[in-house]
Amino acid sequence: MRQETALQVNGLRVSYLAGEGEVKAVDDVTFSLYPGERLGVVGESGSGKTTLALALMRLHKPPASIKGGEARLGGRDILKLEQEDMRKLRWSELSLIPQGSMNSLNPVVRIKHQMADAIEAHDSSMTRAEINKHIVHLLGRVSLPESVAEMYPHELSGGMKQRVCIALAIILEPSVIIADEPTSALDVVVQRVVMQTLNDVQQQLNAAMIIIGHDMGLMAQSADRLAVMYAGKMVEVAPIASFFNDPQHPYSKLLISSLPSPEEKRELTGIPGSQPSLLDLPSGCAFHPRCPVAVERCKQEIPVLRQIDSQRRAACHLVEEQAS
Ligand SMILES: Nc1ncnc2c1ncn2[C@@H]1O[C@H](COP(=O)(O)OP(=O)(O)OP(=O)(O)O)[C@@H](O)[C@H]1O
Ligand SMILES: [Mg+2]
Repeated sequence: MRQETALQVNGLRVSYLAGEGEVKAVDDVTFSLYPGERLGVVGESGSGKTTLALALMRLHKPPASIKGGEARLGGRDILKLEQEDMRKLRWSELSLIPQGSMNSLNPVVRIKHQMADAIEAHDSSMTRAEINKHIVHLLGRVSLPESVAEMYPHELSGGMKQRVCIALAIILEPSVIIADEPTSALDVVVQRVVMQTLNDVQQQLNAAMIIIGHDMGLMAQSADRLAVMYAGKMVEVAPIASFFNDPQHPYSKLLISSLPSPEEKRELTGIPGSQPSLLDLPSGCAFHPRCPVAVERCKQEIPVLRQIDSQRRAACHLVEEQAS
């Protein structure tokens, strides 16, 4: 088994302290990210994916706070780093393509100036000529022509804007990239092409990547392993092929069975019921009210994410009982 990890997250807890109480948006999340691999993280809206991404970057804002756990990158626990040390590590070792980032490009600033600002912010030693050269190099990496440098965001298509955001994330060639729904605002065809660019970039840099999304089809195209989040917890982690061929958690099974077949163009039907409010979680397993196979124990005991074989983990009492 592979031992070395690019990023090792143990028992991470992140809460929002809202007026009504504590929202445990990331609740005891543990996973490994191996060098060069692509780990997909999927889950319904509100399951904690963005909170996880922001906390790992230490870019979460109040009322969010990290309540516990560690995130080891290159021998250090980045959750304990001083802000200044974290600032140095961001973008050079760990970078984020934020959710909705293509819509946060500055509309009145040419792409080359936005890229130059980002480069200067992280590396003050480069001359103007070096910066310009680096911009051209970065645009090439994301399959954009040099002419894009002179343009304003409104002159670019959604797919081109998203490529600019990918270029911004790789300015300092990080070893870990977190991409939060990098294609969700794009149409289906463009989604696949942009995802391919992201994969190419990740491979060229030999970076490890966390890809957050809802689209299981895109995940199947991109991810090596998949982690499923439900109500702040990871409920299954497995290599992509075994996930689709032999899902373990009842929620994973429903996610897969709700996928439209390739020949059908219909919308995702989704899973009956809705995710519970994080302020008022059901007892026991948070999924039990929607679970078609729940038993009494599921209403009482919170299942732990346990190893079910050398590569797969699931948090379900029934899976655990079957395995033993
Ligand atoms: N600023 C906030 N204040 C209070 N609670 C928040 C705040 N932001 C998020 N939350 C809570 O944290 C939970 C997780 O939110 P998060 O944005 O991480 O979900 P997500 O999985 O990224 O969803 P999406 O797929 O819609 O992007 C939400 O259910 C919400 O209850
Ligand atoms: Mg999100």
